Amino acid sequence: MEQTEQLQKVRQFSYQKMSRDETGHNFDHIERVVKMAKRILKEEQTDQLITLSAAYLHDVADDKLVDDPKALEQEIRKFLGGIDFTNDQIDEVLYITHNLGFSKSLSKNPPKLSLAGQVVQDSDRLDAIGAIGITRAIYYGGVNHETIYDPNIKPRQNMTKQEYRNLDNETIINHFHEKLLKLTAMMNTKTAKKIADGRQQYMRDFLQQFSDEWNCRQ
Ligand code: ADP
Ligand code: NI
Repeated sequence: MEQTEQLQKVRQFSYQKMSRDETGHNFDHIERVVKMAKRILKEEQTDQLITLSAAYLHDVADDKLVDDPKALEQEIRKFLGGIDFTNDQIDEVLYITHNLGFSKSLSKNPPKLSLAGQVVQDSDRLDAIGAIGITRAIYYGGVNHETIYDPNIKPRQNMTKQEYRNLDNETIINHFHEKLLKLTAMMNTKTAKKIADGRQQYMRDFLQQFSDEWNCRQ
């Protein structure tokens, strides 16, 4: 099967799985991640089919989103096999989708990603910062009944993977300090770093304005 056709089918599969999600992982997130991955691929020489397939599939078997991620990984495996991916290609795509998450990066031995994996990780992280990142955080916080802000709940620093996953008492503003503001320094590729810098400044300005308004300084 031609690569363009394979990618069309992967896109369709992802659309079926993601279009009803209500946690900010809607299909529009997936489309932006793929678009960003294409942009970064203009600067980084790596496998396009693996990168874009992993971008389309990166949230399909997320253990935060589905009850049985292993079953979904099996479904993805079968699906990719059916559109002529080799076993090695399937393993690589699934390794990326399994290991690119933020909490994995907090573990003692963070998983090493191939360049293709790094491109997908950067693209996913760029969509968590800047104006879109701010909107997604507020949306997610709303869906999950988080408090907007509480000056008595301090942001937690240097969390382990487990601590991050079991966070209770989360506020939307704390999420910026606990995750979003850290992402820029964690970008892998030069292209992503450059884009992240502008988005980082935008988030800082937002948080400053938020704090000024909260304290009636403005
Ligand atoms: P992804 O892996 O696609 O970056 P996540 O599952 O970590 O996404 O989260 C989806 C979106 O919701 C992201 O933009 C993320 O920053 C935001 N988000 C995740 N957890 C929280 C939280 N506790 N409070 C507010 N926003 C959150
Ligand atoms: Ni994502």
